[in-house]
Amino acid sequence: MAVVNKQSKKIPPSNYAIGVFDSGLGGLTVVKELIKLLPDEDIVYFGDTARVPYGTKSSESIIRFSIDNANVLISKKVKMIVVACNSSSSYALEVLKEKFDIPIVGVIDPGAQKAIRLTKNKKIGVIATSATVDSGKYVEALKNIDKSVKVTSVACPLFVPLVEEGWSNKKITADVAGIYLKLLKKENVDALILGCTHYPLLKTVISKVMGRKVALVDSAREVAHQVEKLLDQRKNRKRSKQKGALRIFVSDKPQSFMRIAKSFLGCKIDEISCLKKL
Ligand code: DGL
Repeated sequence: MAVVNKQSKKIPPSNYAIGVFDSGLGGLTVVKELIKLLPDEDIVYFGDTARVPYGTKSSESIIRFSIDNANVLISKKVKMIVVACNSSSSYALEVLKEKFDIPIVGVIDPGAQKAIRLTKNKKIGVIATSATVDSGKYVEALKNIDKSVKVTSVACPLFVPLVEEGWSNKKITADVAGIYLKLLKKENVDALILGCTHYPLLKTVISKVMGRKVALVDSAREVAHQVEKLLDQRKNRKRSKQKGALRIFVSDKPQSFMRIAKSFLGCKIDEISCLKKL
């Protein structure tokens, strides 16, 4: 169930965009699913490329950055915010829900719910940034649904730079995955949560190491479904025959972001700009 923050009784105009933020480009995995599911909605994406990665930062910094990001999106007229970053969702979701008067959706609960649906042997793996693993939020979310599941979490800090470098298909990435995922194979997990928005871009290599029997849980699709449900509940869908616009803002290096975003999303990007000041 999508959780609406307690103050969000006010319904913004339905032609406002869906706001999505991430520390960098990983949140585009959520944007891709949103475009598939809600093609008429406008989307405003903010990638904090000047301060990526968040996964190695302190909780105080992650909270501060997340508040800045939410403010950027609100200044662009959004009707809700999707926190498409596991590190931010782990530490800042509650703060954002307290602070801002629009619905805010994170990525942890949707991923946990899906993993519980998929596991048969009740052994679930979580791979994420160090910040997300240290927060213990996935373990908490999973145990809240089913106390009897065994959860093994592994931080994979090298995965983000490998993705940002565009090295998803290189041998070095497969070697790194082999080392990180060893414990999860030993623990015989049958569902593995990709607890970082960058990791769906490594699905092929992760699946090769884990084997086909292990279900990879990509929360992006689940998040998109929660967004749809939430907008329907609040009667806040745009409902237009026209395709929605996609506007992207970053805090640094818009050109390289544009290149990767275009090839990953495979759709028109209506605007991409760099915000120098947050
Ligand atoms: N997007 C971040 C997350 O999902 C990963 C990248 C980072 O460390 O900032 O945690």
